[in-house]
Amino acid sequence: MQKILFLTGGLGFAGKHYYKNFKNNWDKIIVYDKCTYASDLSFFKKYKRGKDKLIKGDVCDYKKLLKSIPVKSYVIHFAAESHVDNSFLTSLIFTKTNSLGTHTLLEACRLRKNKKITIISTDEVYGETTNSIKNEKSILEPTNPYSASKTSADIISQTYFKCYKMPISIIRANNLYGDYQYVEKIIPATINAINNGKKLRIHGKGGNFRNFLHVDDFASAVHLITFKSKNGEIFNVKGNFRIKIIDLIKKLSKISNKKVNKFSRFIKDRPFNDFIYNISDKKIKLLGWKEKKNFNNEIIKILKKNLVLK
Ligand SMILES: NC(=O)c1ccc[n+]([C@@H]2O[C@H](COP(=O)([O-])OP(=O)(O)OC[C@H]3O[C@@H](n4cnc5c(N)ncnc54)[C@H](O)[C@@H]3O)[C@@H](O)[C@H]2O)c1
Repeated sequence: MQKILFLTGGLGFAGKHYYKNFKNNWDKIIVYDKCTYASDLSFFKKYKRGKDKLIKGDVCDYKKLLKSIPVKSYVIHFAAESHVDNSFLTSLIFTKTNSLGTHTLLEACRLRKNKKITIISTDEVYGETTNSIKNEKSILEPTNPYSASKTSADIISQTYFKCYKMPISIIRANNLYGDYQYVEKIIPATINAINNGKKLRIHGKGGNFRNFLHVDDFASAVHLITFKSKNGEIFNVKGNFRIKIIDLIKKLSKISNKKVNKFSRFIKDRPFNDFIYNISDKKIKLLGWKEKKNFNNEIIKILKKNLVLK
């Protein structure tokens, strides 16, 4: 029997790298994507195999999903509105795509007898974790419209496993980085500001900590969970490299030899800006996953490729 993957959000940052790295593990891949501003069609065209196909569609479109998802296929659900800053401005779009979209997808999957459905969630569902380390059983306490919409998707997915016994697993990841990331995210935004003399806007004092995980390591975690997890399981995944946002910007400025104040300015902080996400990744390590990429090495490669030296 053919191994077919229905890949939502396959034109986005994480989805396209999953496609590139793991396409040869599948007989056929159907990428289903709304082609929003965050999608990268040229990347997909570059790596696309002849037998794979792109369907332009919305995860909120039940009828289209029913027509598009092959029976007994695998599903990996990356599609989302992913940029936290935007969620303070257009929160309903986030709830629609992330919460209702995931619910609609699962409703369609209910009739498709999928072999596995891997739901991409985020460590932001735990909310700020200043004094504790969150494991997969910790309570979910989101603090912004993005994380609230993802938490809702996460809980609906857990519920569909419980009540319909659907073969669902969930993965909660921290900040991702890597090649060809959309310019709104912190690392490409900083490089863009350095290149163009545009002002990078730093929230508050940039004193929040974030861990960074390379998108290729994330792709390998997603693949492992799709094939090795038990239905209903949830996994945290994180990169070990943790840094304060302001120190990250200083680090990039030092390597590129441009003073921070030449390309950035401080702005009012977000209404709520989680200080840190402390998550345990013991469970996914027991499953056999290991982080391979080293942030300090990778960031030099990214800068070499993307810095326009004047
Ligand atoms: N990027 C990160 O740092 C990060 C960290 C943790 C978790 N995540 C999660 O990983 C997943 C992928 O993130 P990303 O960084 O690749 O996002 P992205 O914004 O780069 O890409 C999202 C993709 O989804 C598509 N999309 C948006 N709305 C859609 C809709 N209604 N129907 C169909 N397709 C739609 C877009 O066109 C785009 O191709 C998301 O679920 C996100 O919440 C991302």
